[in-house]
Amino acid sequence: QVKQTGLLSPDRILNVGHRGASGHAPEHTIPAYELAQKMKADYIELDLQMTKDGHLICMHDETLDRTTNGTGYVKNHTLAEIKRLDAGSWFNEAYPQYAKPEYKGLKVPTLEEVLDHFGHGANYYIETKSPETYPGMEEKLLEALKRHHLIGPNAKPGQVIIQSFSPDSLKKVHQMDPSIPLVQLLWYEQPVQITEQELREIHTYAIGVGPNFNKIDRAYVQKVRQHGLLIHPYTVNEKADMKRLIDWGVTGMFTNFPDRLHGVLKER
Ligand code: G3P
Ligand code: CA
Repeated sequence: QVKQTGLLSPDRILNVGHRGASGHAPEHTIPAYELAQKMKADYIELDLQMTKDGHLICMHDETLDRTTNGTGYVKNHTLAEIKRLDAGSWFNEAYPQYAKPEYKGLKVPTLEEVLDHFGHGANYYIETKSPETYPGMEEKLLEALKRHHLIGPNAKPGQVIIQSFSPDSLKKVHQMDPSIPLVQLLWYEQPVQITEQELREIHTYAIGVGPNFNKIDRAYVQKVRQHGLLIHPYTVNEKADMKRLIDWGVTGMFTNFPDRLHGVLKER
């Protein structure tokens, strides 16, 4: 039921700004998303967590510790508490070569704020993180997307992609709205091949897979493509890796440096 045209065409190589242009600016902040767009990312990638009072926020970790000056689990804090935190200074300390004074004091954005800010002017590649910890996350996500007219019969194909490591979370979304394109994330510790059975199963609800890039090879990519699935490996930051994956036939990739990927794609 998903129309594989435009952004979702298998002939495209999508540039996905991983947590925004998170190599250059503090991940999951509005400036990081804006920078990703400026650097020609096709998508801004959002990871979702849920606050104690049920708000979806954009944050990678389940805890506040790494990317804010707070501590503890997101699920144990209200949005008001999280809004008091500084989500930018850690980046200046960790990456002095990319530090900027204006990153100090940046706020953790809610999903709602990001959708308000960018509206139809961005494409969103949204991950349901830890869905087993956050019952109702998928319903809240779809409600927000509907409110902003980003899904539904009149939406642009591919304006929103939903991704998850959890097949259950993706299947739930698929049941609620089979027109939303879904990508099954995969994590491998060892070099692997994907089986025919796995591919068939994934194809029942998703249009593509997103494996970690460093344990796959050309045969893996080709097998996925032969099944009619898209493949968007993560997280690819070096030009040599980008070029190799493109040569193998990937249909996009997640990168903290969308400017680098744009450069590689332009040189082809
Ligand atoms: O969503 C693709 C990639 O971001 C998955 O890994 O841990 O960075 O969310 P993670
Ligand atoms: Ca992610």
